[in-house]
Amino acid sequence: MRPKISIIGAGNVGATTAHLAALKGLGDIVLIDVVDGVPQGKALDILESLPLERRSVHVFGSTSYDAIAHSDIVVITAGLARKPGMSRDDLLLKNAEIVAGVSKQVRQYAPEAIVIVVSNPLDAMVHVAAAAGFPRRRVIGMAGVLDSTRFATFIAEAAGVSVENVQTLVLGGHGDQMIPLIECARISGMPLSQFLNPEQIATIVERTKNGGIEIVNYLKTGSAYYAPAASVVEMIDAILYDKKKILPCACWLEGEYGVSDVFIGVPAKLGRKGVEQVIELALSLKDKEAFYANVAHVREMVAKTGV
Ligand code: NAI
Ligand code: 2OP
Repeated sequence: MRPKISIIGAGNVGATTAHLAALKGLGDIVLIDVVDGVPQGKALDILESLPLERRSVHVFGSTSYDAIAHSDIVVITAGLARKPGMSRDDLLLKNAEIVAGVSKQVRQYAPEAIVIVVSNPLDAMVHVAAAAGFPRRRVIGMAGVLDSTRFATFIAEAAGVSVENVQTLVLGGHGDQMIPLIECARISGMPLSQFLNPEQIATIVERTKNGGIEIVNYLKTGSAYYAPAASVVEMIDAILYDKKKILPCACWLEGEYGVSDVFIGVPAKLGRKGVEQVIELALSLKDKEAFYANVAHVREMVAKTGV
């Protein structure tokens, strides 16, 4: 039987994720949205593209959660996206309400699924989703993959090398305080300092931290979705095919990095069971302090949601 991937929220990120996952033939796909007609129409449109792609997966849209039964993975993208002038944190209370309602349905109809949360503010929304009663290692936030691919894009551009040569890692929350790790970044195994001067590196780090708002300011009516969807698909692929791939994701910490009882962005090994291992990095004092400041901010945001 093919794996089943359900995506809640058939907006920009949800529909693009469905399209990419179908193009890669990762599994059968269900799209759910609260607006009747949107998930059905987008799912049918994607399905009709698949004979040309020689992909025989099924794509189905609905407003009814019974369609997600027996999902292997559920991706939550439901909620508002920000507009110019808004921070991700400005979405907190409205999206907390939406994600809480959605997660309750997911818990009821697909209790065995691994849940990937995308809605913003990401780290707080992962807590809200987990509060519906999923085992903590089966709830994973998508942000670090996106922030790291942005970091890699800017490095490749500045260094004039192929993106395929660049490896990056962004730690912490999905906000302005995120920590693009300069020491972990490599160009074909070599440190950034071999290709870029300190000023160039500092500019790239700032651009990475502001990668989301850069797109919002261009689009004006919403936020990024192509790179976010590709990031979700990277996680789905690692989980469904039990790749044991190490990707930065918002994971539940139980003492790792000296932190407990919080979801925050760290490198984690993803496989068929979800988060199979949180990988601990030896951090510089500066990065450690920045990480703890991220944790404190996430805890503050979570407290405001009341979960
Ligand atoms: P969008 O506005 O295009 O789509 C959101 C969809 O959610 C809409 O179709 C809407 O009808 C649906 N929705 C709203 N309430 C719902 C409910 N109760 N049940 C089911 N569906 C519901 O927004 P977009 O661009 O797809 O972004 C979605 C979310 O993902 C936003 O919160 C955005 O900030 C976040 N995001 C997070 C990223 C990350 O790195 N974690 C990256 C990109 C977006
Ligand atoms: C981003 O970073 C909107 O959080 C999303 O593009």
